[in-house]
Amino acid sequence: MSTAFRAFVVNKTEEGFTAGFKELTLAELPQGEVLIKVAYSSVNYKDGLASIPEGRIVRTYPFVPGVDLAGIVAESSDSRFKTGDEVLATSYELGVSHYGGYSEYARVKADWVVPLPDGLTLKEAMALGTAGFTAALAIHQLEKNGLKPQNGPVLVTGASGGVGSIGINILSALGYTVAASTGKSSEHDYLKELGASEIISREETSAESNRPLEKERWAGGGSIAAFGNTGGPNLNTTVFPFILRAINLLGIESVNCPMELRSNLWRRLASNYKPGHLLDRIGNEVTFEELPQALATILKGGTRGRTIIKIS
Ligand SMILES: NC(=O)c1ccc[n+]([C@@H]2O[C@H](COP(=O)([O-])OP(=O)(O)OC[C@H]3O[C@@H](n4cnc5c(N)ncnc54)[C@H](OP(=O)(O)O)[C@@H]3O)[C@@H](O)[C@H]2O)c1
Repeated sequence: MSTAFRAFVVNKTEEGFTAGFKELTLAELPQGEVLIKVAYSSVNYKDGLASIPEGRIVRTYPFVPGVDLAGIVAESSDSRFKTGDEVLATSYELGVSHYGGYSEYARVKADWVVPLPDGLTLKEAMALGTAGFTAALAIHQLEKNGLKPQNGPVLVTGASGGVGSIGINILSALGYTVAASTGKSSEHDYLKELGASEIISREETSAESNRPLEKERWAGGGSIAAFGNTGGPNLNTTVFPFILRAINLLGIESVNCPMELRSNLWRRLASNYKPGHLLDRIGNEVTFEELPQALATILKGGTRGRTIIKIS
């Protein structure tokens, strides 16, 4: 095993902010029971934020971002994992306060590691990544709260992004009628290929309203799964949808999802939740060298689907 390897490092000092590739050694990696040779990582909105000085994601510098990684166990002092195992890790402190996936090697806590489920390759796992896991968690929570295909159409906003693209593809395969809201007129055909039967402009779904209640239009099982803030943190509504139509607002938080549900959802993502267009339409592989450009694109809201980073 080589002791020196390449990583994408962000740093903030008195001289300013830097982001770029650096050589690290195994001794510089944080503590953890499992050393992983990273094969693939991916780009999430949070990673974009971690790559800029005003992003408020990274807690201490210097730092290696990347909230997702998939690879092969190189060393493990935990009996659940052995050298050669294919694994993935997302969430918890990874890429936020613990060195993440933009590195040829990562050392992580065994409690964060998920064995690669049968039915997924390492590359497919990163085409899904945190975005795919979040889409699965949102659909799981909606269904747990009564969503069924026969209830009516489901609206997915931020449709051409990572969570949106995967969400549409899963929902349509499960038999739902899906409406996709997007700000990109160039992506209508893409969203239809993923299974959206109706496209709505972002202007329409984000428009302000001066009415206490709009016409009933979406099923969603009477629920909204809220997971993101790309369009800003504000939620403008009245209490009427909740007290007159029994609408539920479901908070979706992937980072601290308990391991039992997490492993369960990853197994589903490898089987009945596995998006049919994961690699041919949603996932787009780029090289490690192209990572800075991919981070800049996601910050501009310009990503289509998911960007997979081939690390080693
Ligand atoms: N709660 C959790 O655990 C969790 C987990 C993962 C992600 N997230 C959050 O979920 C969001 C989506 O993540 P992602 O990885 O899918 O990001 P993404 O790939 O960048 O997708 C976000 C999409 O939002 C739309 N968008 C862009 N600018 C917008 C604006 N000003 N107003 C409204 N929509 C806009 C765009 O799609 P269109 O052009 O098609 O509209 C964009 O592709 C992010 O806020 C992320 O931080 C949360």
